[in-house]
Amino acid sequence: MQKKLFVFISVLLIAAFVLSGCTPKPTDVVKTEEPKPASSQVEVFSWWTGGGEAAGLEAMQKVFATKYPNIEFVNAAVAGGAGTNAKAVLATRLQAGNPPDSWQGHAGQELIGTYVDGNQIEPLNFLYEEEGWLDVMPETLIPLISKDGKIYSVPVNIHRANVLWYNPKVLADNNIAVPTTMDEWFAALDALKAAGVETPLAMGEQWTAMHLFETVLLGTLGNDKYNGLWDGTTDWAGADVTAAIDNYIKLLEYTNSDATSLTWQDASQLVVNGQAAFNVMGDWAEGYFRELGKAPETEYGWAPVPGTVGTFQFLSDSFVLAMNAPHRDAAIAWLKIAGSKEGQDAFNPVKGSIPARKDGDRALYGVYLQSAMDDWNSNVVVGSLTHGVVANDSWKSEIDTALGLFLSAKDGKAFQDALAAACKSSGPCK
Ligand code: GAL
Repeated sequence: MQKKLFVFISVLLIAAFVLSGCTPKPTDVVKTEEPKPASSQVEVFSWWTGGGEAAGLEAMQKVFATKYPNIEFVNAAVAGGAGTNAKAVLATRLQAGNPPDSWQGHAGQELIGTYVDGNQIEPLNFLYEEEGWLDVMPETLIPLISKDGKIYSVPVNIHRANVLWYNPKVLADNNIAVPTTMDEWFAALDALKAAGVETPLAMGEQWTAMHLFETVLLGTLGNDKYNGLWDGTTDWAGADVTAAIDNYIKLLEYTNSDATSLTWQDASQLVVNGQAAFNVMGDWAEGYFRELGKAPETEYGWAPVPGTVGTFQFLSDSFVLAMNAPHRDAAIAWLKIAGSKEGQDAFNPVKGSIPARKDGDRALYGVYLQSAMDDWNSNVVVGSLTHGVVANDSWKSEIDTALGLFLSAKDGKAFQDALAAACKSSGPCK
């Protein structure tokens, strides 16, 4: 029956062409099926859908639209902080051979241990040469986006993970100085609790709990032992990690009970609303505070997470070129903007990050970001776990599973055992 219908429709179509005196040309077919040639669009994938993040992307997109007015920018962002949902969607698309042209992948092990090892992205040395990027990108970043001499992504920014955001009025009202050590932090939290402050330390969904945990690991272990966790020279089963877990357990006692149902924006907002005193979050929170119209220094303050003064725990958002990108030329055009001074200076002041390029225009950045620029240039730099620098996706996901169990059972010993096991199965602890 279906076959007969198909033959009937085909005959009708041919008759229509003959009657109208037209022979179907390839261009006719292209015109009706797709109004623009294939290279006239680029699909860019990220998780920047709201709260300061979408605005940053939009600012860079505007630069792109000015330079490439004929290329349509298809924004394929999937909501969910730290890419928790987006990465799953991306993995499914990559597996199905349906990649976006370009996506946001963190510099470091996430990029190398996931997309490069999976042969999912193209090397970009040719672009670095054409655009002179080797002269303007930080030397420290290049090894984190390279393998065997091939460079695989275009970093758009540097974010700081170890930031303690605080409400200056809440601290002043309670005569509390900004804490710089773990002990000072616990004393401050106790005082705030005793004074009846609703939430001394705001926290959100699970990835924000991992974010807090990595800063506590850093604050408790110090730079060298923290770095050793990721190259196998610090023992995950040792006393230092036990001490960090103990600190973490203590800190969780000061957090809000509805954490699992809050996004990072919800949790950060508690601070600027005066409902919470502290929140540990990357400096994308600053982009959000600005979007909310809050004023730096009076409505929100910042400091390194206690125990991490002098250390800049970093991550870098970078964009890649898909292997077999459906619109390769357009994707290269997008990457040129992502790596350009103009693109980065439009994106970063809004996103709450500093440019990856060394030649950003400092005057365009607010007081917080100027301080981040100074710290990036003078502090000891270490990498973030939650945002892809120090562990690849499979190791991180084992840590995440252990953390999930811990957050409900609060069994520190079981947590440490699981962390030690994760380093053996997916990390360098053989
Ligand atoms: C990070 C990402 C940041 C920011 C944050 C919250 O992983 O690098 O740019 O988007 O997640 O969503």
